[in-house]
Amino acid sequence: MLRGEGLVAGYLGAPVLLKVSIEVERGEVFCLLGANGAGKSTIAKCLAGALGLRGGQVIIDDVDVTEAGPDERVGRGLSLVPEARHLFGRSSVRDNIILGGWTKSRSARSASFERVMDTFPHLGRLLKKRARDLSGGEQQMVAIARALMAEPRYLILDEPTLGLAPIYVDAILGQAAELARQGVGVLLIEQNVRKSLSIGHRAAVVETGRIVLTGTARELASNPSVVDSYLGGVV
Ligand SMILES: Nc1ncnc2c1ncn2[C@@H]1O[C@H](COP(=O)(O)OP(=O)(O)O)[C@@H](O)[C@H]1O
Ligand SMILES: [Mg+2]
Repeated sequence: MLRGEGLVAGYLGAPVLLKVSIEVERGEVFCLLGANGAGKSTIAKCLAGALGLRGGQVIIDDVDVTEAGPDERVGRGLSLVPEARHLFGRSSVRDNIILGGWTKSRSARSASFERVMDTFPHLGRLLKKRARDLSGGEQQMVAIARALMAEPRYLILDEPTLGLAPIYVDAILGQAAELARQGVGVLLIEQNVRKSLSIGHRAAVVETGRIVLTGTARELASNPSVVDSYLGGVV
């Protein structure tokens, strides 16, 4: 299990997270919902080690990684695909993906690359292109493929479908569901609430730095306050 326990964090003077606790199990898609500015990305950054905590703990499969940096957490099985995809635009798609396996030996890296390419066959014919010449949806796939090079047991996807054409939204959410079927614990931060709840197992709603509601994805999809706030008032 990936666990954040009583996470307290913020930027400079301003507190953002006020004792957030969250648990993601292997094999599930856990949807994190909430308005812009609620603190979802901050939760993602705290779990992945990109932002320091003022309180609380992060635990990956019973190992306390609170003091570990982002790279060490990747080594322990947790990868983050951040909202800004951070691809190297001038580098090839292949180089961008391979980079995700930088801690591995050459042979382990090519084995991972083969596996990742099986997962994203669509990227096969784009490998020589520069990352910046890809569409937004293709770039997101490259960012996810790069994260998968580390063979994570837990994967955090921060708004992976933001601004993408519907065909890519479905492809990427389908991919998230498939990763969960393969045993990965996926923490999915999404604005496409209806679609993400339809592939999610459990979900939580974040409001101003607190988790205010949690339950199965099905429960949240029919919860009146979720329907009002995130599903346009219509089930
Ligand atoms: N780098 C930053 N510096 C200062 N404040 C930030 C920074 N990133 C986010 N915030 C603030 O923290 C709060 C939560 O932001 P964030 O976690 O990005 O929300 P969400 O991902 O739910 O939209 C917001 O008030 C936002 O303005
Ligand atoms: Mg965000």
